[in-house]
Amino acid sequence: MNPPVLEAKQLNKTYRMKNGTPFAAVKNVSFSLMKGETLGIVGESGSGKTTVAKMIAGMIPVTSGDIAMDGKLLSAGAKRPLAAKRHIQYIFQDPVSSLNPRLKVWDILAEPLKLYFKLPQQEVDSRVDQLLRDVGLPNHYKLSYPRELSGGQCQRVGIARALAAEPSIIVCDEPTSALDMTIQSQILDLLKELQQRRGISYLFIAHGLEVIYSISQRVMVMRQGEVVETGLTQAIFADPQHAYTQSLIQAIPRIDIPYFE
Ligand SMILES: Nc1ncnc2c1ncn2[C@@H]1O[C@H](COP(=O)(O)OP(=O)(O)OP(=O)(O)O)[C@@H](O)[C@H]1O
Ligand SMILES: [Mg+2]
Repeated sequence: MNPPVLEAKQLNKTYRMKNGTPFAAVKNVSFSLMKGETLGIVGESGSGKTTVAKMIAGMIPVTSGDIAMDGKLLSAGAKRPLAAKRHIQYIFQDPVSSLNPRLKVWDILAEPLKLYFKLPQQEVDSRVDQLLRDVGLPNHYKLSYPRELSGGQCQRVGIARALAAEPSIIVCDEPTSALDMTIQSQILDLLKELQQRRGISYLFIAHGLEVIYSISQRVMVMRQGEVVETGLTQAIFADPQHAYTQSLIQAIPRIDIPYFE
């Protein structure tokens, strides 16, 4: 089997609350992510999913634990080399607020192209056009501001911005929860198609298991900062071991998911 593209070992994150007391938001979380794979992270609000995601993407430092990409240890934030930052991109839950309101779509997409590849203007232009095609947005949207687009269109821009960096990993932090059902499935289809064509690995976060079922091969269930169960998605649906996982499966509206047909 191929070595993992990403390995997280014994990740811990302790936040300091306003009154000074420590709060352990993530406790001893370990996992690996293979090339071209989608690993789902599921759990209720506050279970630590975004905290894990942000540590992986280097947006916040770990309190303890190791993150390695292609076998090399990674640090957080400014200390992470540009090449490593480029390879782990992030798609946010709120598509509109994740885009700078003062920039047109063209500038939003040009930013990573200039930062990571130092492309000359003319090439930036043609890459922006290609990225818009890749995510199914008409070309004229490059002259629009985020506020002029729908939530689904903004999320397509968010996906294009992540793709611009040509990453090996995309952290998708509940990328469809702010969208209505039909738009949700269009965005999921787009993510699946992009993965098939490019072999990108996704760390895909969701509140509930219904979205996870359709997109991820493996799933990790988190509760109160800890992993309570992990395994193949099919196996977890067929035979959930932990009572919390069972409650997540029971919470799924039956009509949403082929498993219950
Ligand atoms: N910067 C911070 N300072 C203090 N506590 C924080 C901070 N960020 C998150 N927390 C706390 O850590 C816990 C985990 O938060 P996190 O955002 O990782 O959860 P989540 O699983 O992503 O939840 P949701 O599904 O609502 O997005 C929560 O109790 C949250 O209040
Ligand atoms: Mg979150």
